[in-house]
Amino acid sequence: MSLRAVRGVKDILPGEVELWEVVEAEARRLFKTFGYAEIKIPVFEHTSLFARSLGETTDIVQKEMYTFEDRGGDSITLRPEATASLVRAYIEHNLFHPPRLLKVFTIGPMFRYERPQAGRFRQFYQVNAEAFGSDNPAVDAEILVFVDKLLRALHLDDLEVRLNSLGDEACRPRYTEALTAFLQRRRDALCEDCDQRIDLNPMRVFDCKTPGCQELKEAAPTIGEYLCEACVDHFEQVKAHLARVDIPVHLDPQLVRGLDYYTRTTFEVVSARLGAQDAVCGGGRYDGLVEALGGPPTPAIGFAIGIERLVSLLDRSRLPLDEGTPQLFIATVGEGVDEVAFEIMHALRSASIRVEREYESRSLKAQMKVADRSKAQYTLILGGDELARGAALLRNMAASSQEEIALDSLVEEIKARLALP
Ligand code: HAM
Repeated sequence: MSLRAVRGVKDILPGEVELWEVVEAEARRLFKTFGYAEIKIPVFEHTSLFARSLGETTDIVQKEMYTFEDRGGDSITLRPEATASLVRAYIEHNLFHPPRLLKVFTIGPMFRYERPQAGRFRQFYQVNAEAFGSDNPAVDAEILVFVDKLLRALHLDDLEVRLNSLGDEACRPRYTEALTAFLQRRRDALCEDCDQRIDLNPMRVFDCKTPGCQELKEAAPTIGEYLCEACVDHFEQVKAHLARVDIPVHLDPQLVRGLDYYTRTTFEVVSARLGAQDAVCGGGRYDGLVEALGGPPTPAIGFAIGIERLVSLLDRSRLPLDEGTPQLFIATVGEGVDEVAFEIMHALRSASIRVEREYESRSLKAQMKVADRSKAQYTLILGGDELARGAALLRNMAASSQEEIALDSLVEEIKARLALP
């Protein structure tokens, strides 16, 4: 049997990985600008953390978790998302002391046993951020400003932000009741899954792609009509803040999320270029979760961007990719030059110059071909009479010109030609 990666996971190879680097670098740069600190969290947790945070009836908890018993008999789950772990860390390390707005981010892999398809993997990466300790609508707007800035820095300006408010514990129950009554009256038209959802999690019907359910959705009551005054006011202020900085949003009264912890502001960023799995980013408020997991009452909001989906939208020609191209290539001529080459390479790399060489004893012509392919700006040719004189030939690859340079001032000379400090 040939060895292959597990279904639904993928290797990110050189060539693509440079795009990931740009995404991470831009995200980290912006996180600094916006005052987010990094937290590194474990990739696995006690299963109960996710069951309690994400909702017992969600697809993730019901069907998609990688859960196993470890050798000590504990039930462990590979994290399907990062928010639950960050909330756990927030409580466990008393990060609510002193009371303040605490902004954190983490970047890493998540695991969901979903049906693999384009843009949907069983191990995927997220850039995930959370802001704990404020219910100010400006914080909601700031989160969306962050996402907008990141996408624009990556030259993605064709994405749509879908925004909704899911209300809070004061108004959501009234809405769920109305929706349940509506769905119960039309039970016959619902698919089997949605029929079960009525009693467990009726809002999930909005996520159903079955034609019958789609049609029903159009006539279903929407949460907007049921929001309490405080939630309406909060939502209005989020929108007003976004309008002040010209961030366009598309209001989507049917936007629900696949996790149960959300309250009030929720959003997704979608791309028409992605097909069925069109969300690049999802997030929202979860004002009750910290308290539900045993912490003090703490309003919070966050988001996660799926890196695979984001990367699939990028235009490499518009990004500053670092493909690791060497600045200098070393070619050797004749016997006994290896050690000199090794020493020179060491000196150049110590000065942070990117150097490569050909290790196999090939003809100079063959080595020059490798040098060409490497796209190095210069090739240093070591050997023969020059070496005996304490010198080497430096070839400018683009200009096809050669000059002799002294080995004892090699590093300085090369730095000068590469315009390095
Ligand atoms: P989510 O909507 O489940 O939210 O995931 C966020 C993003 O992760 C999605 O929009 C998508 O880009 C990516 N994603 C999710 N599942 C997959 C998959 N199977 N394959 C590839 N990409 C995927 C959350 O995870 C929340 N924790 C976000 C959040 C943070 N809310 C508040 N704070």
